[in-house]
This record gives sequence, structure tokens and C-alpha cells, in this order.
Amino acid sequence: MTNPVLDLDAVIADPRTRIVVCCGSGGVGKTTTAAALGLRAAEQGRTAVVLTIDPARRLAQSMGLTELDNTPRRVSGVDESAGGSLDAMMLDMKRTFDDVVLAHTTPERAQAILDNPFYQSLSSSFSGTQEYMAMEKLGQLRAEDRWDLVVVDTPPSRSALDFLDAPKRLGSFLDGRFIRILMGPARSGGRAYLKVLGAGVGAMTAMLTRILGAQVLKDVQTFVAALDTMFGGFRERADATYRLLQASGTAFVVVAAPERDALREASYFVERLAEEDMPLAGLVLNRVHRTGARSLSAARAAAGAETLSEDGAHPLTAGVLRVHAELMRVLEREQSLRTRFTAAHPRVPLVDVPAQPGDVHDLAGLRTVGAALAGG
Ligand SMILES: Nc1ncnc2c1ncn2[C@@H]1O[C@H](COP(=O)(O)OP(=O)(O)OP(=O)(O)O)[C@@H](O)[C@H]1O
Ligand SMILES: [Mg+2]
Repeated sequence: MTNPVLDLDAVIADPRTRIVVCCGSGGVGKTTTAAALGLRAAEQGRTAVVLTIDPARRLAQSMGLTELDNTPRRVSGVDESAGGSLDAMMLDMKRTFDDVVLAHTTPERAQAILDNPFYQSLSSSFSGTQEYMAMEKLGQLRAEDRWDLVVVDTPPSRSALDFLDAPKRLGSFLDGRFIRILMGPARSGGRAYLKVLGAGVGAMTAMLTRILGAQVLKDVQTFVAALDTMFGGFRERADATYRLLQASGTAFVVVAAPERDALREASYFVERLAEEDMPLAGLVLNRVHRTGARSLSAARAAAGAETLSEDGAHPLTAGVLRVHAELMRVLEREQSLRTRFTAAHPRVPLVDVPAQPGDVHDLAGLRTVGAALAGG
């Protein structure tokens, strides 16, 4: 039995498709796939926006992504003759976080939070913040309703699942005991808390004061208190975006390289999407190797190279045969990894994208990848 072929043209052309999420483990081609799908959708007549995260510099430049200002801009060089267009933006995590703060509290309080050193380090380094912010931005873009199709790239996490777990993690961080202890003094207005709270919390605060110093502790408390007032907002928005991801207008495209770890991550991800009722379009197997000379096996090519080398007369031919033998071994390995995936997930639609001779860094390269994504 063979898996169905993933028909991404059908996915991006379907007017019901409003969001495409490209996910997968680190370095597999998520950003490339997202940009290629956005471009292809635009050139087929849809009004598309692509939200990229940390695109390679040359790709960013070729898409006109020179500013990190969190607003989508029109990409030039796109064939708009079918009536579509492509906007693109790079996610600026900190800026998105700031915007959320500004939208959820009074200007004075927002400023206090933005100036707080703990906010500054949290917003740029808390693990999961980037994933959370990507979701937040997706929610915003979708809500603007300016585009037929929003294509989102996901952050370069080690694990693809981080993207789905981030909102919950941020939530449990805010719910955490440590945070609640810190909140104590801020909530009850200064030192009075010592009288009302248990000795355990008092001792903890005293210890924190000793370790951090009174001013630093106060900064943390101010920040956390402010965050707490927006907490409901964060949660609600994360929940809303989560529901958006489950909606039928969303299509998850899982990207994997034909490598053991990447495919294992892809397997987990596919299972997780099913558990969460999130709509999977299928798997993109990116950077697959090909050869026009499949009939010559690795073993025969290697044997031929060996014989020629002993003879010493045809070093170049021997070299070519050796390269071919190596390529055939790569193909065999890729094939067996692919078979392992399809055996575990026989119903997941799948498409191969061949490894291009060089990096994909301009619109022409994205078109080539786009055609391959569409099975061409
Ligand atoms: N089919 C392909 N053929 C050749 N090169 C490719 C292909 N797909 C992607 N690349 C290259 O591989 C590199 C990584 O791709 P990309 O940035 O899209 O991966 P990513 O999954 O977004 O990585 P990260 O997890 O770091 O965000 C880039 O240099 C890109 O040009
Ligand atoms: Mg990327």
C-alpha cells in the first residue's frame, strides 16, 4: 500500500483554507516551505501573507524583509497577473510581546512593565516565548482578515511539539508557585503581607531579598503583578488561537528531512495533531536525493570502482562510480526511513521535495520548491 500523494495546490487553492502552518524540527526546511507556499498561492491568485521566523539572511533580503517591524509588507517580483499578491513579515518576538502588553493595560502600567529589567529578559529569552508569540501574531493576522491565506512558519525549536506546548507552558509559568510567592507582597501592599501569609512564604521572601536584594525583588514583584493583571488576557488569547488551529480552515504541513531524528519528530507531531484534533494536510519530505541512474546499484558501482582502481587506468571513472555508490547508499537509507514512516502512518499524504543544488535564497528558488511541493 502506498500513502496518498499530498496535493498542496489543492490545499492552497481551496477558498476554505485560511491558515497553513509549516512545522517540523530544526533545520528541515520550514521557513523555505512556508515562503514557497505563500509565493505559489499568491501567483495562483490568492491574497497571501507569510509570517516567517528567523529566515536566512539572503532569503529575507530577496523577499524584501529588511526590517523587523512586525508589519507585513508587499513582496516585489511576485507575478500578480492571476490577481493575487504576497505580503511577508519577519516575527520580532520582543515587539510582539510589547504590543500585547500595551494592548492589555493602561499606558502608565505598560511603560512600567516595558522598562522592567525582568520583563526585558523574560520577553527575549523565556523558553517558549517565541513559539507563544508566533501563535499570538498568527491570531492577530487572521483577525485582521486582510488576506485569503495566512502561511506561518514556526520557530527553530529542537522539537516541533514546542510550538503547540508553548502557550500551556507560559500559562503554567504564570500559575507557578514561585510566581505566587513573589506576588504575595505586591498583592497585599508592602510589608503587611508578613502578617497575613504563612511563615514559610515570609521566610522565602526574606531569603529572596537576601539573594536578590530588595530593589531587584521589588522589580520582579512589580513586573509579576502587572503580568498578573493581563494574565486572563494571555490565557484567553492562547485558547482562542488554539481553537483557530483546530478549525477546519487550518492545514498543518509537517516538514521533515529524510533523516532519522527529523522523521521521528514528524511522527510524534502527526500523532499529536490527531490527539488535539488539529487538521493535518500531510508530510513534506524535504531535501530528498535523486538519481537518474537507479539501475546501477551501490554494490555494483562500488565493485566497478574497486576494479578500476586496482587497474589504475581510469581514475576519473572510478571516482564517478564511487560517488554514485555513495549516493545510492543515501537513497537506500532515505527510502528505508520513508518506508518506516509510511508503515506507521499509512494514511498521511506525502510529497517529496528534491534537494536543490544550492540553498534556496530567491524567488526563483522558491518557485522551484513550490512546484516540487505541488508534486511537479
Ligand atoms: N529542498 C531544498 N534543497 C536545498 N536546500 C534547501 C532545501 N530546503 C531548504 N534548504 C536550505 O536549507 C537551509 C535550512 O532551511 P530552512 O531555513 O527553511 O529550515 P528551517 O526548518 O526553517 O530551519 P530552522 O529550524 O533553523 O528555522 C536553508 O539554507 C535553505 O535554503
Ligand atoms: Mg526557519
